[in-house]
Amino acid sequence: MSQEQIYILAIESSCDDTAAAVSCNDKILANIVAGQDVHKAFGGVVPELASRAHQQNIVPVVDTALKAANITKEQLKAIAYTRGPGLMGSLLVGSSFAKGFSLGLNIPLIEVNHTQAHVLANFIALEEKEKPTFPHLCLTVSGGHTQIVLVKNFMDMKVVGSTNDDAAGEAFDKAAKILGLPYPGGPLVDKKAEKGDASKFSFPFPNAPDFDYSFSGLKTSLLYLIKAQQKVSPDFIAENMEDLCASFQQTIVQYLLLKFEKAMNVYQVKSIGLAGGVSANSELRKQFSLLGEKKSLPTFIPAFEYCTDNAAMIAITGYYKYLAKEWANSSDPVLARYKII
Ligand code: KG4
Ligand code: ZN
Repeated sequence: MSQEQIYILAIESSCDDTAAAVSCNDKILANIVAGQDVHKAFGGVVPELASRAHQQNIVPVVDTALKAANITKEQLKAIAYTRGPGLMGSLLVGSSFAKGFSLGLNIPLIEVNHTQAHVLANFIALEEKEKPTFPHLCLTVSGGHTQIVLVKNFMDMKVVGSTNDDAAGEAFDKAAKILGLPYPGGPLVDKKAEKGDASKFSFPFPNAPDFDYSFSGLKTSLLYLIKAQQKVSPDFIAENMEDLCASFQQTIVQYLLLKFEKAMNVYQVKSIGLAGGVSANSELRKQFSLLGEKKSLPTFIPAFEYCTDNAAMIAITGYYKYLAKEWANSSDPVLARYKII
């Protein structure tokens, strides 16, 4: 008997990327993301400008996704959307669109938690790739979140460690800003670090209990180092840019993995995964794979297009919620804060 084809349209608009994806069961047929350059001049996301840009982008992005998937909207079985966490105005654009679309097509609406979706990005079906087995331990590292998540099943997740202040991506972006690099600085630090000496400068690991993290002190250490050195050489940043990036990146990666390995030793899982925008970081990807090898555990790292914010991860989460018949209500409010427990 052939499997039913469940087409889902997914919408993601929690921050500064307007994204739409179309899935068929656990496969992704189209994954479209419209970024927003408007924030570059401000060194960070401006919420009001983000929601205005979502408003402009949402219809063309959905239209492009449906065309790329080569399906008609009548074939859709459900609409999944990001309910939170995120910026209120941004979430309102995507959720209002999704609600209207599901009502117009008379198909179910599915609400998705963005951080849960980052974790499930590793469960998107790919050619010749097995899926993670449960229990699974995921390190979610993005601009808004840093979490160690124990995944017992698709819908049964528990956060066992998280940041007490800045997220890992925020630490990258704030360091980049100190170094004079434009927003978002994470990918630029990664690029410059390629040619740098990671052992040139050292930054102390911040203190945080158990499997929790703290990142705010790291950028302050970087700032103090630079201020002190600039007294000796005003061109200190330019002269040491690559080494500074490599050393700072190395500290974040080692700190992330130190805590994650600690959690692995306590939670005896069958597979491990990396998720979120910072999982695009080349050094983190390399060292995370080495950790998996060291522990002899199947290790999952999303393809680049599923690391940073995207709607494919909303679609895969929507698919598992569809199977569980977890429908949303069109009167559900969006949630700027939305915990996955
Ligand atoms: O998941 P994401 O797209 O948005 C949030 O949900 O926050 O993550 C964005 C974050 C930004 O802080 C960005 O600088 C960081 O991911 N990022 C990176 C890299 N690519 C994206 N950080 C370090 N190295 C990268 N290659
Ligand atoms: Zn995200």
